[in-house]
Amino acid sequence: MPYSTLTLDVDDDGVALLTINRPDKLNALNASVLADLDTCFEEMVSSATVRGIIVTGSGEKAFVAGADISEFIGLGSSDARALSVRGQRAFQRIADSRKPVIAAVNGFALGGGCELALACHLRIAAEGARFGQPEVNLGLIPGYGGTQRLPRLVGAGIATELLMTGDMIPATRAYEIGLVNRVVSAEKLIESARKMMAKILAKAPIAVSMVLEAVRDGHLSLKEGLRHEAELFGSAFDTKDFEEGVSAFLEKRTPHFEGE
Ligand code: COA
Repeated sequence: MPYSTLTLDVDDDGVALLTINRPDKLNALNASVLADLDTCFEEMVSSATVRGIIVTGSGEKAFVAGADISEFIGLGSSDARALSVRGQRAFQRIADSRKPVIAAVNGFALGGGCELALACHLRIAAEGARFGQPEVNLGLIPGYGGTQRLPRLVGAGIATELLMTGDMIPATRAYEIGLVNRVVSAEKLIESARKMMAKILAKAPIAVSMVLEAVRDGHLSLKEGLRHEAELFGSAFDTKDFEEGVSAFLEKRTPHFEGE
């Protein structure tokens, strides 16, 4: 399905490159972008061909510079609550994906842009990328998951500082605090994301999806998370991929995983 605010390119290995395409507004998330993102992820998650997803922004300047501030004008509190729920639902669909999702952050990742990157499973940043949750500058707080996902990723202390100061931090600082997994040159950004994706997609698919599920659900409570991990660990022993992985190791050959 064609999208008015996104471009989508799926290569022969099943890696989808999704580009948010509103460069004149620094890819700000207006209602159309949010709706397109939601539909696009719904389709990709159930697609038989897509195996992994890379999300980036069009142009050299921005990944996503936040929710579209111009759409905030005239919103009452109940409209704003509904907007927050819509954004949270769209981003949760990304976080819930059992196919790996990598954010390739090519520039500003502010507000909803930082929250979008946080909802992805991994983040690779170009050297010039900048991250921040500047909502306090507008008298607001993040509404698409930032107050919850940022502290879970970087710890409450640093997250609270970023959320209360609205500071914009460079990619190197984002790497230091664990907000991004890698920092690479802008020219190598997509190539690096593809390389990381290829490495993941060469592993046992069911095991990879179990990792995503266990990590996501680990935040319920440590006790529940450990119980869930043990359940998934046990289920992994029922897969053909497990038999293949162990046989390949013992036979000193590369495993050939079928995702069964
Ligand atoms: N919502 C709506 N429009 C936005 C936007 C946003 N979050 N971020 C940028 N834009 C628009 C600008 O209004 C401008 O549009 P125009 O050319 O029609 O005037 C265009 O994108 C380019 O942005 P501009 O501000 O001119 O670029 P800059 O290089 O001077 O500054 C930023 C870049 C990112 C620092 C600045 O755009 C900014 O602070 N954006 C808002 C960030 C934010 O607060 N996000 C959280 C929202 S809750």
